[in-house]
Amino acid sequence: MTTVTEHYASHLAPVYLWMAGGLDAAMSRGEAEINMVCPNGANGLIAVDLGAGFGMHTVSLARRGYSVIAIDMSAILLGILRDQVNTLPVKIVEDDFVTFQKHLDMKANLILCMGDTLTHLPEQRSVEQLFADIADSLHVGGTFIATFRDYTIPLTDTGRFIPVRGDSDRILTCFLEYTDNYVTVHDVLHERRGSSWQQRVSAYQKLRLSTEWVAKALQANGFSVRIEQGLAGMVRVVATVHTHPSP
Ligand SMILES: C[S@@+](CC[C@H](N)C(=O)[O-])C[C@H]1O[C@@H](n2cnc3c(N)ncnc32)[C@H](O)[C@@H]1O
Repeated sequence: MTTVTEHYASHLAPVYLWMAGGLDAAMSRGEAEINMVCPNGANGLIAVDLGAGFGMHTVSLARRGYSVIAIDMSAILLGILRDQVNTLPVKIVEDDFVTFQKHLDMKANLILCMGDTLTHLPEQRSVEQLFADIADSLHVGGTFIATFRDYTIPLTDTGRFIPVRGDSDRILTCFLEYTDNYVTVHDVLHERRGSSWQQRVSAYQKLRLSTEWVAKALQANGFSVRIEQGLAGMVRVVATVHTHPSP
């Protein structure tokens, strides 16, 4: 088993854009999602994209006028984002996103954690701490949006083998193994090497967060919470901070 950082650096990040269906398709999906959930007229507003990856949501937010702080630990994925930014108001930060407050010198209007990124945190306590920091870092009335997979109902038997993407030169299959609080994600990558195939496997853990637990943890930090159906089977949580937690 590797850490999340190692898994992305050595296994997933180099094929991530391919896995996402290519840059244009992925950016269109991100833009469609931002159009669904974010209000227009964002000039001068501050947004933070936690686990921004290659910028599927960051770029669209910046085009709407947000000044965006995009934080991720993958240099490879941030490199793809950097190539798209040009003159857009995006600050790119390579760091663990749990430390996002040190990169923010004023309160934010919007904080995102999209694409099943919350589940990459090491334990539920880290998620609770992140929610407290987010509540503290948003203006009253500000919004936190997260999309994640609810892994509480385990897949069983052959249902645990998930075909992610395949073409004539590469196949990515995901295999899931469940324990009480975690699901171990094995990313099985086959790549064509001349007339044969090379297989590489790397595994990391994700948290099994229930939708109900996430909603309650946000409410405990002064958020009102709306639950929606997100893209690709994910849950979307839209949370508005009404009060700052008492010190
Ligand atoms: C599943 S991807 C989602 C990326 C992007 N939000 C999207 O929707 O396309 C998870 C991202 O979170 C990043 N990540 C995971 N844990 C992190 C952490 N603790 N600090 C910074 N980045 C992290 C990974 O490098 C990866 O880019």
